[in-house]
Order: sequence, then C-alpha cells, then structure tokens
Amino acid sequence: MNATTGNTTAAATDTVAERPPVFSVDGLWKVFGPKAARVPADPDLAALSPAELRSRTGCTAAVADVSFDVRKGEVFVVMGLSGSGKSTLVRCLTRLVEPTAGTIAIDGEDVRAMDRSRLRALRRHRAAMVFQHFGLLPHRTVLDNVAYGLEVQGVGRAERRERAAAIVAKVGLEGLEQRRPGQLSGGQRQRVGLARALAVDPEVLLFDEPFSALDPLIRRDMQEEVVRLHREEGRTMVFITHDLQEALKLGDRIALMRDGRVVQLGTPEEIVGSPADDYVREFVRDVPREQVLTVRTAMRPAASADEAGTGPAIRPEATVSEAIEAVARAGSPARVMTDGRCLGVVDATDLLSVVAGTADPAAGSRDPAAGSRAAGAARVGDGGPPARAKPSVGEAPDRRRKPTTPPPATTEEPV
Ligand SMILES: Nc1ncnc2c1ncn2[C@@H]1O[C@H](COP(=O)(O)OP(=O)(O)O)[C@@H](O)[C@H]1O
Ligand SMILES: [Mg+2]
Repeated sequence: MNATTGNTTAAATDTVAERPPVFSVDGLWKVFGPKAARVPADPDLAALSPAELRSRTGCTAAVADVSFDVRKGEVFVVMGLSGSGKSTLVRCLTRLVEPTAGTIAIDGEDVRAMDRSRLRALRRHRAAMVFQHFGLLPHRTVLDNVAYGLEVQGVGRAERRERAAAIVAKVGLEGLEQRRPGQLSGGQRQRVGLARALAVDPEVLLFDEPFSALDPLIRRDMQEEVVRLHREEGRTMVFITHDLQEALKLGDRIALMRDGRVVQLGTPEEIVGSPADDYVREFVRDVPREQVLTVRTAMRPAASADEAGTGPAIRPEATVSEAIEAVARAGSPARVMTDGRCLGVVDATDLLSVVAGTADPAAGSRDPAAGSRAAGAARVGDGGPPARAKPSVGEAPDRRRKPTTPPPATTEEPV
C-alpha cells in the first residue's frame, strides 16, 4: 500500500481522511498478453520496464502494482498521459476488465470474488460509469435515456419518469426532456450521460475522461457542474483525466500514473509543491503555484507580538494567490488564523518566493526531502513528457489545452 494513502499521513483537519474507504485497491495488476499471470508472480518480470517486458514476454502491464483507497465523499482523480493505464485501472474497479492480480474491495466486499449477479448489481447500483462518448440510446428521448438505468433496475414507469425528470432538472436540461440525443449539443449530451449515471443514485460515480471531447468552454461548464454536484451531494467520485488543470481543479487527491504505475498520490498541493520525482516535477512545472499552494506553505513564525496581533487575517487553507490580494490591499503582512489563534504570518516576500518557485515547500508540514526544486534540469526518461522549447503558463506536458486559459482551438477529436 502506498504510504501516502495511509490515514496517519493526512492532515489532522482532513475529516475525509478518517472516513472508511469506498474502494480499496491493493497490489493491482492488469497485464495484457500471453501467460499474463506470470508477470506479477515473478519479481524479476514485475520489475522490468515496459519496453523490456514487451520484448521478453510480449506482455503489456497496463496496470502495475497499484494500491490506493478511495475515501467516502472524495473526488479521487487518476491522471496520466495517454496510454498510462487510466482506463484499464478504472475498468478493473468493476471488472469491466478482469484484473490479473491484486485485491479490490468495495465497502469491504471482495470485488474479485463477486459472481455474475453480484457484479451486475455493483455496476448498476453501486458504481455507475460516465463515459467519454456518452453511450446514449439515439432513439430515446432525454428523459427516457436518463430513466434507462432505473428501467434496468425494474423501477416502475411512473416513478422512473418522475425521478428522471428531477435529475434532468438538476443537471440543467429542463425543457429538453423530449429531445433525442441527435438534437443536442455535445455538452448537453454529456449532461444526459451524467444524469443517467446519477439517476440510479450510485454510491460512487466513475468518470473516464468524460469531457475530453468537449469544447473548452463547455468543458469548463461541465467541470463546474461536477464541482457543484460534489459540493451539494458529497458523492464519491473517481475521475480519470489526462488534463492536469482538470485534475487540480476537481481532485481532492490525485494519483499520477506513468506506465501503469502510480508515481505519486497526494493532494493537488502535495503534487505541485512536493513532486515525488523529476517526472512529476516536469509534469507540474508550468502550474501557477500560487493558485494551488496554500498559505500554510508560505507562512513563517511571527517576528514580534505586534506582528502576531495586527494585519489582515486569512485562513490556513487560503491560496497564496488569495493572500497576495489581502497583503496588497492592507499594505502589511497577513496573519494566518485558525480558531482565533495566529499560526504564522506571510509577507510580500514570502508570497513572492512561492510564485517564483524559490520557496521551500518543506517549510510547511510536508516531506522535507521534497523541498529542493532541481533548477530546470529535469531528467525525463522514455515516454516522458517532451521538453518544451517555449514553456507557457498553464500548458500541460501533453500540450493539451487547459480550460482556464483563453479558449483555444481544441486538439481533441470533434464530437
Ligand atoms: N485490450 C488490450 N489489449 C492489449 N493492450 C491493451 C488493451 N487495453 C489497453 N492496452 C494497453 O494498456 C496500456 C494502457 O492503456 P489504457 O488503460 O487505455 O491507458 P489510458 O486510458 O491511460 O490512455 C496501453 O499501452 C494500451 O495499449
Ligand atoms: Mg483511457
């Protein structure tokens, strides 16, 4: 089990961390190819690089020794470049793909031991999937598409139409109930897909890059929809994306995958502030740090009783960007306050050094070893993100566009 998934390493204030896991994944492997099962069973094979494994065995380890818990009520993001194993991983959770080795539990129940009918119940009631290509039924109306999952569950016609209508309204499709998918925009169709997954009231929603095919502005709308639904309902979500900005925006925690393995698992702040290795560092290099890191990272002890007693008060969870605004407005250092106590102060220099990337993130509660940012010389091995000639803020290593940047031409396939 990855050390960062343990409750003991989470901040004491994080109540989600104390909740029981919905999904618990341990030592999970999915190997494609001949005699796949020997790969996880043989430590020599299990340790090979993807290229070596392919040439020695003809196998691909799409998921390689992955462990994590998805806690109740969190948005757990799995991020990685195309081919890193994200889809295979999320499909293993409900055995749409059969794992090769390892354990998966939902609410403590062994998923790998489930028989057909138990599995069907898992997919229909407990863990609903929202796909990238919507999977809508073209000849049915919006309302009937949303009611479909309830129909499969055997809910009566009147009740399922009533429930579907409520969900349709919830995702902002009121008035479009009688349209067919072909009469909707891409964003509206994705809302139908989302509504259909929500209609069965699943314990956990699984999203496999649902917004990748959407135009940037519509995509941002959908992300906000997810944030809103999560805030209002506290529903547990596993969200797959190749888009760093999307991951940072939605994730309570992010598992960053590379070649089937999780290279880092942590909060957005941990990933951006304390990258586990050069690969992660390169991945997050252009993220506006002040929008992700909190003042906890930037604060220092008050220099005097006077400093601890004056200046604007900000929460420890406030971003550096928010603190900059407070300090600029007040013209004095700000106090980081919780329950009437002053935890520390931040002044303009402290805050600017976070923006500049010269602050030591280990100054906060983080892993001290992770604080040293190797200046520029990130070494990225085969399959790593390409080195950029012209880095620009907000651009991810895979060069896909971010919803927070001005709307550009999308590199995604058209809907
Ligand atoms: N059915 C399959 N047979 C063989 N290889 C597969 C299969 N599905 C996925 N793979 C391989 O597994 C790796 C991970 O794929 P995938 O899970 O689709 O990645 P992602 O969703 O991150 O793009 C890729 O190398 C892919 O080619
Ligand atoms: Mg995929």
